Amino acid sequence: MEAAGGVRTEWRWTRKDLVSLEELSREEIELVLDTAESFKEVSAREVKKVPALRGKTVANLFFEPSTRTRTSFELAAKRLSADIVNFSSSGSSTVKGESLKDTVRNMEAMQVDTLVVRHSSSGAAEYLARFVKAGVINAGDGIHEHPTQGLLDIFTIRERKKNLEGLKVCLVGDILHSRVARSNIWGLTKLGAKVSVCGPPTLIPSKIEELGVTVGYDLDEAIRGQDVLNILRIQLERQRGAFFPSIREYAAEYGISKERLERAKKDVLIMHPGPVNRGVELAGEVADGPHSVILDQVTNGIAVRMAVLFLTTMVER
Ligand code: CP
Repeated sequence: MEAAGGVRTEWRWTRKDLVSLEELSREEIELVLDTAESFKEVSAREVKKVPALRGKTVANLFFEPSTRTRTSFELAAKRLSADIVNFSSSGSSTVKGESLKDTVRNMEAMQVDTLVVRHSSSGAAEYLARFVKAGVINAGDGIHEHPTQGLLDIFTIRERKKNLEGLKVCLVGDILHSRVARSNIWGLTKLGAKVSVCGPPTLIPSKIEELGVTVGYDLDEAIRGQDVLNILRIQLERQRGAFFPSIREYAAEYGISKERLERAKKDVLIMHPGPVNRGVELAGEVADGPHSVILDQVTNGIAVRMAVLFLTTMVER
């Protein structure tokens, strides 16, 4: 099928919602990645727009702060010619006590086609998807999943390394509180990558091996032979206890410094979902260095979100 604007897509998608990568098959993940590949060149055009979602309305409902995801979904919707409204909880009737369900029902009454939802509660997007006719895209729910971040990470790895089968990817840091880690693990393992996690024992969930990953606690050991290091943010806002003695000790044990990076493969990719705590999980010179693809991740996020918006919004309801 050819979407309006000369962008080619295949039509095998059957979901109105994207709640998690756990629920997607390998074929569905590959369809999103392939669709994103065909949308990527739109952002390089002089006129960065195709009419693929003309006449459709997308609402960005963000109940938690965001820079990248919210902006990226807004630009993705605009580049597909959809109308987009931005909602943030601080300026809304939720501060007067309106429930999430009522807020969303009111949005739906305004004939919104697709809701992009970020919420601090794990399961919020799935809960909404069950009772609204509109599509629901999870833009991060608590510590559960951040599926479009997982997809854009995988898209960026595939773009650089071509084949994910057998590729070694290590997720480093606060795995316990990371929805990005969970989406990466589900997506990467389905595509055949060998995934490992490394961090302080207090920040590694028990039984994480059941998701098909190996676990390490010594970063200098863990980074050897890896093709990709995806460095996760220390999520101080979600940590209700002392998970490590101090930020300084965390940085010494689990931060990626220039010296530590010398132990890694010469062509290792350094990734980070953002926002980066410079000098904590990642040294500034590594974040800005030749191995870093952090800003490519941000660029690719628009193409991936265009693909997700297009596939979920245009599906037959
Ligand atoms: N990666 C990510 O979700 O960033 P934001 O919190 O800025 O959206």
